[in-house]
Amino acid sequence: MLLDGPFATDLQSRSLWGPTPARKPFMLDTMNRTEVIQSLLSRRRDPTYLEIGVEMGLVLLALRAGRKIAVDPEFKIPWRDRFLAYFRHRSNRSISYFAETSDDFFANHASALSDGIDVAFVDGLHTHEQAHRDVVNCLKYLKPSGVIVMHDCLPPHAAAALAGPSLRAVEALEAPGWTGEWTGDVYKSVMQLRAERSDLNVFVLDCDYGIGIVEWGQPETTLEMNLADISALSFEEFSKHQQEYLNLKPAECFSSWLNSRSVAAAD
Ligand SMILES: C[S@@+](CC[C@H](N)C(=O)[O-])C[C@H]1O[C@@H](n2cnc3c(N)ncnc32)[C@H](O)[C@@H]1O
Repeated sequence: MLLDGPFATDLQSRSLWGPTPARKPFMLDTMNRTEVIQSLLSRRRDPTYLEIGVEMGLVLLALRAGRKIAVDPEFKIPWRDRFLAYFRHRSNRSISYFAETSDDFFANHASALSDGIDVAFVDGLHTHEQAHRDVVNCLKYLKPSGVIVMHDCLPPHAAAALAGPSLRAVEALEAPGWTGEWTGDVYKSVMQLRAERSDLNVFVLDCDYGIGIVEWGQPETTLEMNLADISALSFEEFSKHQQEYLNLKPAECFSSWLNSRSVAAAD
């Protein structure tokens, strides 16, 4: 199946995919998204946490936060898990669930964020445009020392990086090398932020399919590329330069970065 519109180019150029870069499986990583997010939350008093894209609630229900806000048009949290989580931590008793797309949430229910976001986790629809829009919308409510965490910024191979309007549509392509892992082209949204925003520091940790970190402040480095070039970039070209394009860092850098940040009392 081939798709029309913005996804067509990527899908139709399947024969141009480059060799898959060698990489150990992400499940062997020592750090994962839950640990990164919890480390950020634990440094703050009664933090507000927003998760976009929740699915079974593996991350949402494991975290301790002051307040949790969850957005997903199709929650798949088993009732048993919801029930057990209720007893695990106080903040699981008052989660605000919004069963809608992130765009609808920001259009209609953003008042839920009026106290500001301490930590947001962007893990909804895995497309360049949607991930970028989710980050930009979160920034409107992000506290001065708040952090946005993005998932799936580092595709493990070309098939996982396929662009498409949904997991089902990409799965239906039966692409060579498909393993069921789908990061989509979220990496392009990281690149766009690095190319366009002089008020944000953005980098990606090399673990758990690439954990993107977005914070207010002067960028450590910027990317000299325009949006048209980023949109048209092939996976093959991306994988040759991923270190530079994503400001990719070893997972071990996370703790020194975390220790270097101060949470402003004014937040
Ligand atoms: C990869 S899963 C999230 C996994 C979860 N964050 C975790 O780490 O366990 C992606 C989720 O995004 C949801 N989703 C898809 N489109 C969305 C949209 N436009 N807005 C918000 N969520 C969306 C899907 O329903 C799916 O449950």
